[in-house]
Amino acid sequence: MKRLRLAVLISGRGSNMERLLEAAAAPDYPAEAGLVLSNRPDAGGLETAKGCGIETATVPHKDFASREAFERAMDETLRAHDIEIVALAGFMRVLTPWFVTRWHRRMINIHPSLLPKYPGLNTHARAIETGDSEAGCSVHWVSEGVDEGDVIAQARVAVRPDDTPETLAARVLSEEHRLYPQALRRACEIIRRH
Ligand code: GRF
Repeated sequence: MKRLRLAVLISGRGSNMERLLEAAAAPDYPAEAGLVLSNRPDAGGLETAKGCGIETATVPHKDFASREAFERAMDETLRAHDIEIVALAGFMRVLTPWFVTRWHRRMINIHPSLLPKYPGLNTHARAIETGDSEAGCSVHWVSEGVDEGDVIAQARVAVRPDDTPETLAARVLSEEHRLYPQALRRACEIIRRH
């Protein structure tokens, strides 16, 4: 079985990226890591990726005059590395319809809420404020609307009465680490069937 070449896009610490790289290190996993790309030169995840022996690239959004020019540079880098599937993991730039269309059904994202609830930021504080009894995370295909694409997989955690956004975020993050490698496997299987 030919494995899909994976790029993980990050902006920060990259703990989800690390779990994907670990999973993709197994020879029977349907994706193999080809690249970790960051829009921030100081993203902690870049060092982690290098430590795993994975090639890294930085495309600093600040160096480009427009969102389109930034995305064209990212797209060229991805194609130069023969990337076939993209996983966003704490990548903090909103993508234009051009880029999203170019990677249609080839790009997934992890989001720390039970979508369609709470797209965008501050998901844990919003769940607590609303009085939700459960929270969680979702992996979804990336579409034009931010955090709006079809959901591939979700994991749930109970919200405790004494939870703060930080304690809830930590419990959800553990679930993200478990969920993302499974959901990426599923995404690869869906791509293969088409
Ligand atoms: C995660 O909570 C992810 O769901 C969100 O950003 C955070 C990234 O954390 N999109 P990390 O960089 O993977 O540690």
